[in-house]
Amino acid sequence: MTSDSKVCTACGSPSKLRCPTCMKLNIVDGSHFCSQDCFKASWGTHKAIHQTAAAAVSNGTVNVFNPWPSFRYTGKMRPVYPLSPTRSVPDNIPKPDYAADGKPWSELALKGSTQIEVLTPDEIEKMRVACRISREVLNEGRKAVKVGATTDEIDRVVHEACIERGAYPSPLNYYGFPKSCCTSVNEVICHGIPDRYEIQDGDIVNLDVSCMYDGFHGDLNETYCVGNVDDRGRQLVANTRACLDKAIAAVKPGVLYRDMGNIIQKVAQAEGFSVVRAYCGHGIHRYFHTTPNVPHYAKNKAVGVMKPGHTFTIEPMISEGTWHDEQWPDSWTAVTKDGKRSAQFEETLLVTETGCELLTGDFTK
Ligand code: MF3
Ligand code: CO
Repeated sequence: MTSDSKVCTACGSPSKLRCPTCMKLNIVDGSHFCSQDCFKASWGTHKAIHQTAAAAVSNGTVNVFNPWPSFRYTGKMRPVYPLSPTRSVPDNIPKPDYAADGKPWSELALKGSTQIEVLTPDEIEKMRVACRISREVLNEGRKAVKVGATTDEIDRVVHEACIERGAYPSPLNYYGFPKSCCTSVNEVICHGIPDRYEIQDGDIVNLDVSCMYDGFHGDLNETYCVGNVDDRGRQLVANTRACLDKAIAAVKPGVLYRDMGNIIQKVAQAEGFSVVRAYCGHGIHRYFHTTPNVPHYAKNKAVGVMKPGHTFTIEPMISEGTWHDEQWPDSWTAVTKDGKRSAQFEETLLVTETGCELLTGDFTK
């Protein structure tokens, strides 16, 4: 048993309890919890590791398995469990309110409001720093995206790159999310949980990174073509980037948030692609997700007018086939209903007096 396995699977603090089902099944990794609260918060993902060892095959180091063998998957992607033990964040790194119990209390307190915050110059400077760090971390993570690497290995690189910079990986324990970034391969639209899946030649891999630094969040993602991706796959990825770039180019004071969707859908449709409707861009600053809501599809009814000092993301998810999505039983992984591929790109933006500033822009390019 490693010392890793004696910390709480949910929050990383020393654990006194073990899941009773895990004890019966002789599951060690991921079986420890510090409290009933952490146990409950993790239940959605944790229960999967109880599925019988009958579904297990050896990958050399641990027995890996499909946690929901009778679930009707829409495509070829499968979860590869068990998840690695929860990664911990050093005590000296400031944490968001949800780090402890999975609930973003400060965000939840604002639910129902449509007011969009105008940031002060000091707050804008903090957003610049959080977004620059998030970009650096994504650039580290993308070096790990290659054939044979597991998505968990990418998560480890991202987690460590955050910590090296004194930042908290925003996804970790956000509504109980178990890892530090999202990795979404092929038909996975978004919110894929890094696991023991090994990246294959021809995969399209989205890496979504968010960091909290000095109380502010940055958020961005990119889709990478690994090895020999077919022409339509490459076209999908290029089209998705074009959707985002065209929308960014239109951002300036006075523009309606709902207009982003009209611009994006036009670019996607012109090449026969569809726009995912269930997930949207969002305001971001002291909260990971806040007003405005920014749909990527045409004729939406989003509320709000762009003003200098607003910070938000645009993050179109564009699909080869249907725009319809569904979720895996982990309650996170979003996949296309028809199992065809989906790509995504995301940046965090600041509305300025004359247009916008790309806060997560890649200044190394
Ligand atoms: N960056 C993602 C987004 O804005 C959020 C991933 S964190 C998760 O949608 F916990 F929600 F998965
Ligand atoms: Co986002």
